[in-house]
Amino acid sequence: MKFEVFTVEVLAKQTDCLVVGVVEDRSEQGDVFVQLDQALGGYLSDGLASGQLSAKKKEVAIIHTFGKISAKRVMLVGFGKQEKIDFKVVRELSARVVNEAVKGKCKDVVVSFESAIGNALTPFQIGHAFAEGATLASYKFEGYQLEREEHKVLDSALLTGAMKVEANLDEGLKIGAAFAKGTNLARDFVNMPANYLTPTVFAQAAIEVAQRYGMEVEVLERADMEKLGMGALLGVAQGSANPPKMVVIKYQGSAKWENVISFVGKGITFDTGGISIKPAAGMESMVMDMGGAAAVIGAMDTIGRIKPKVNILAVVPMVENMPDGAAYRPGDVLTSMSGRTIEVISTDAEGRLILADAITYAKKQGASFIVDLATLTGAVLIALGTHTTGAMTNNKDWVANVLQSADEAGELMWELPTFDVYREQYKSRIADLKNTGGRHAGTITAGMFLGEFAEDTPWVHLDIAGTAWQDKNSDLNPTGATGVMVRTLARIALNNQ
Ligand code: BES
Ligand code: MN
Ligand code: ZN
Repeated sequence: MKFEVFTVEVLAKQTDCLVVGVVEDRSEQGDVFVQLDQALGGYLSDGLASGQLSAKKKEVAIIHTFGKISAKRVMLVGFGKQEKIDFKVVRELSARVVNEAVKGKCKDVVVSFESAIGNALTPFQIGHAFAEGATLASYKFEGYQLEREEHKVLDSALLTGAMKVEANLDEGLKIGAAFAKGTNLARDFVNMPANYLTPTVFAQAAIEVAQRYGMEVEVLERADMEKLGMGALLGVAQGSANPPKMVVIKYQGSAKWENVISFVGKGITFDTGGISIKPAAGMESMVMDMGGAAAVIGAMDTIGRIKPKVNILAVVPMVENMPDGAAYRPGDVLTSMSGRTIEVISTDAEGRLILADAITYAKKQGASFIVDLATLTGAVLIALGTHTTGAMTNNKDWVANVLQSADEAGELMWELPTFDVYREQYKSRIADLKNTGGRHAGTITAGMFLGEFAEDTPWVHLDIAGTAWQDKNSDLNPTGATGVMVRTLARIALNNQ
């Protein structure tokens, strides 16, 4: 979809659909509304007064103009109460507009939100929210049907703005589109079945992203991992016929390779549970177990588009967790790259094993700050549900930085504690650590296990097992992958330049 800003006579513009935002708590709906209302013989104001039309949040009415203005149709969009309008509301309503416009067979829209939003947001933020919402709403996973339905999207959206703010609005549109495109890329990876997205295919796709933006990229193969002593990762990989990969991308946005922020993402392309095999019912959902890896690659795509002056190191282990004659077993003791030994209690607690080595590798490559992302525990769904990502840390300042970025990106996140007392739960009788900490506080003990490998490097762990996938369709997110945390990671990059 092409986004543009345009400032001349709105009513004279040829379009399939002229979209106007209205608010509940005002009799005055702004200039565009007044002109439009006059042209339509008072139909809009009468409709709002009689209750036939509504300014309630998310209400949409499509009105035919019968040639009275240049637009074929008018879409009235309710913004609800003006004081409640923020970035997230505009983003969601932008998504709604696009979905309704496509349903109404429009090819293009001209959008006037300004008077509805008032001064609550800057033109930059309005542009950002609009392009992000519209692009996220336009996402569809193509699928593999013999006869595919055509995926309809808008060709263009024109956003009307006052002359003096045009440039800022335009900048916002660019950032919003970049954030959403990275998110949609992550969604594609997460939605792909494991027979299509093997570690080999995933690594190749990641290389292509990095090369598109001229980033340095390297893929560690099994033999490299053996040399480096990545025994924890290799343990998980040994039951699969698909060889493991570890993608390492360096984005250098400042003169020196220092103050490096590392994004580490869990890339289990399929999680059967291994020998500690998962129940059959619902196992197909484990195609999403590379949501952390997808978030990192998606964020690198966004970063490539917006080019912040910051150094980013992406470390993405990609492994399939399968049961097999060669598979690792409960009771095995693995030696991680850090030298720490790990007793395997469950082969289904595989994420923390591959991440342990990935975190150690990130440190060796000069990471000064780490954010790891993983669909790590079912327990986080019990604790926080499907809308909120769980955060854990060893550093108050760094987690504050990450939480702030999540808030600005409009992604929900909540910190869980990492009190020392929990460490007892993953102490082993025969090794340095064991890979499960029992049923109690399952999300916390999994996160703290990773923290042992971060050591004293400022680190934040994000458990996205609840948020990487949605079972219900919404305006911003069709059922399936969400691409969660791409925008938070991009925001972290922008905020730490
Ligand atoms: N990939 C799963 C976690 C998961 C569960 C992700 C539900 C998305 C939705 C992870 O590898 C796993 O199996 N975790 C176990 C840990 C347990 C064995 C300590 C779990 O949560 O049950
Ligand atoms: Mn598992
Ligand atoms: Zn897993």
